[in-house]
Amino acid sequence: MAAKKLAILTGGGDCPGLNPAIRGVVLKATDLGYECLGVQEGWKGMISGDAKPLRREDVEEIVGRGGTILGTSRTNPYKKEGGVEGVVGTFKKLGLHALVAMGGEDTLGVAAKLYKEKKLNVVGVPKTMDNDLSATDYTFGFDTSVTVAVDAAARLIDTGRSHRRIMVLEVMGRHAGWVSLFTGIAAGADYVCLPERRVDVADMTAKLRQAHKRKNVALVVASEAIDMGDSGKEELDQFGHMILKERGVGEKLAKLIEKETGIETRAAVIGHIQRGGAPTLFDRMLGTRAGVKAAELVDAGDFGKMVALRGDKVVPVSLSEATGTLKTVTPEWFSLLDTLTAGAAKTSPAKAAVKS
Ligand code: F6P
Repeated sequence: MAAKKLAILTGGGDCPGLNPAIRGVVLKATDLGYECLGVQEGWKGMISGDAKPLRREDVEEIVGRGGTILGTSRTNPYKKEGGVEGVVGTFKKLGLHALVAMGGEDTLGVAAKLYKEKKLNVVGVPKTMDNDLSATDYTFGFDTSVTVAVDAAARLIDTGRSHRRIMVLEVMGRHAGWVSLFTGIAAGADYVCLPERRVDVADMTAKLRQAHKRKNVALVVASEAIDMGDSGKEELDQFGHMILKERGVGEKLAKLIEKETGIETRAAVIGHIQRGGAPTLFDRMLGTRAGVKAAELVDAGDFGKMVALRGDKVVPVSLSEATGTLKTVTPEWFSLLDTLTAGAAKTSPAKAAVKS
């Protein structure tokens, strides 16, 4: 075996839980006799060879810290000239035995390819506030970001009730509606708009009118990714995902609701506030357990795997299985939503679109 040396990188959008995961890898790997390095800013640092030592004293106090101490980027080595060669070269130059890549579908998709095509010893750790990775029950980052959004929703209800308004909260989640779904359920929303389900405007406005009549306020939680009829104009990032710089869905929805109901409506966008702050207990525990398991997989030589939460166990699954398809909200969740918001909503499995 090559030197007992491993590197860690964090790629894609940051999220709470990354620091506990980095700490988990370093503490376990150090215990197993490994030297650890922290690659700076995701795949970007792996291409340029930017890595710094990670010792026990660098990580022992980061369990409660948001973000990632390593920095991150949305760099895709497969979309950069010489990118893949750069990654392979850095791996050799640093004398690595293994690389632990922490990321979502994009970052781990690159890890899966590097394992398959370049035979690099990689282990993946799933993170994303979107919770849209297949093969794992939850990703860390999700619990914290939803907790923050639920708190924001409660604040909106307070001010909305005082002014007898309908309030719209736009949340992140890109292509999947998990953040919107869980925020809506936990905040007691009167309507939840998901990218996976067509919004029926007549049904939505009827429910909002009824709720507003009962409570003097009504709350809508809307995913940033619902289609308000102007998709196709967005810029794409190196992984081909929309760069949602203008988070305008909530505002558009509020205008539409006000027009249809005649009730004053306001929108708020929580945006990146959702991604910051101290990780919740759940995210600290999941991040820590995932990090420790990743170090164990490295030591066992079990590469090409991602650590996954299955029930209450953290287990290895194949990286290619985990990154094959995006995990989106399934129709069983729609019926739960319909139970929680008065009346039965009309559903359509078609791509989300607002029809009026
Ligand atoms: O993928 C995580 C996420 O927070 C999405 O929910 C959101 O659409 C996107 O990242 C925002 O990306 P950026 O931080 O690059 O604006």
